[in-house]
Amino acid sequence: MHIVITGGAGFIGKKLAATLLASDGIELQGMPKRRLDRLTLFDVVEADGLPADQRLQVRAGDITNADQVRALIDDNVDAVFHLAAIVSANAEADFDLGVAVNLDGTRHVLEACRHLGSSPRVIFASSVAVYGGHMPKMGHDDMWLNPQTSYGAQKAAGELLVNDYSRKGFVDGRALRLPTIVVRPGKPNKAASTFASSIIREPLAGEPAICPVSRDSVMYILSPRRVVEAFVHALTLPGDIFGPARMLTLPGISVSIGEVEAALARVAGRHVADRIEWKPDDHIQRIVSGWLPAFDAVRAKSMGFAADETIDEIIHAHIEDELGGEIR
Ligand SMILES: NC(=O)c1ccc[n+]([C@@H]2O[C@H](COP(=O)([O-])OP(=O)(O)OC[C@H]3O[C@@H](n4cnc5c(N)ncnc54)[C@H](O)[C@@H]3O)[C@@H](O)[C@H]2O)c1
Repeated sequence: MHIVITGGAGFIGKKLAATLLASDGIELQGMPKRRLDRLTLFDVVEADGLPADQRLQVRAGDITNADQVRALIDDNVDAVFHLAAIVSANAEADFDLGVAVNLDGTRHVLEACRHLGSSPRVIFASSVAVYGGHMPKMGHDDMWLNPQTSYGAQKAAGELLVNDYSRKGFVDGRALRLPTIVVRPGKPNKAASTFASSIIREPLAGEPAICPVSRDSVMYILSPRRVVEAFVHALTLPGDIFGPARMLTLPGISVSIGEVEAALARVAGRHVADRIEWKPDDHIQRIVSGWLPAFDAVRAKSMGFAADETIDEIIHAHIEDELGGEIR
């Protein structure tokens, strides 16, 4: 089996790659388990920290270049995880770049897959940013799409294309709407949600972190472990289980920033939680107040997708996976 991950040098792409390489085969439901023969990571930046594995191939390239994407997705490709994207604040600041990467890039992937004639599986990373406007306290599967950012609009458009290419039989697609993924390792990025990870990651590493929003602000989140599980699960599910809607909002947990602070104190100690510095920022507060606070993911759960149990579990997982079990 040959799998491609676009955006393979990114945070989720690298974790997904490591999980696929560590698995003893991929079992597409209803079919015998197949070996992973080749895994190709495609990205505009260089990937570091990848496992040494002969099945792994890293290709530098630009998703906005249709010819490069066509060359990437060759006859042997069975499945594509399409993760390459410009994140929210970046897509808002540079409209043309957002359209080129998030929308045209998705079209290029779908067209290259269509050209194969074998209807490969395509798993598209969408986002709960497709929702917006008057947000209910609890989102639900029949909620309409009303993105309030260019990023959200580009993801919504990508989802519709995945659905239509699937309806036509060009691809066997699935679009997963991801909650905010916490804890993101590494450095802060340009996403408006970057503080959501910083306020856990930096204190655990012995550093201060600025929290720009109030303690009663609520976020809908999922851990890196669970999102990688969700991508692998989405790959294995038979297409017909999605019915006429290939898009799906993943289960997550709903936590307030005050609950994150309390969990950090429980797991790592009060002195660690006290490394959060509270510096309200009206601009970020307004953005966060417009986010989906919670979602009743009935459909995804019925298809076997799962969320973390608690914020404590998410913090423990970060300590194990990224800090070698040690808190500073
Ligand atoms: N992390 C989250 O909280 C979150 C939430 C919702 C949705 N998502 C979506 O999940 C996917 C993965 O997210 P992530 O957190 O790993 O993001 P990331 O920014 O770490 O990874 C995205 C990768 O795409 C690559 N990329 C950007 N432009 C490209 C181009 N022109 N050609 C090729 N590659 C290009 C980047 O270099 C980067 O490595 C994205 O599609 C993102 O929109 C993430």
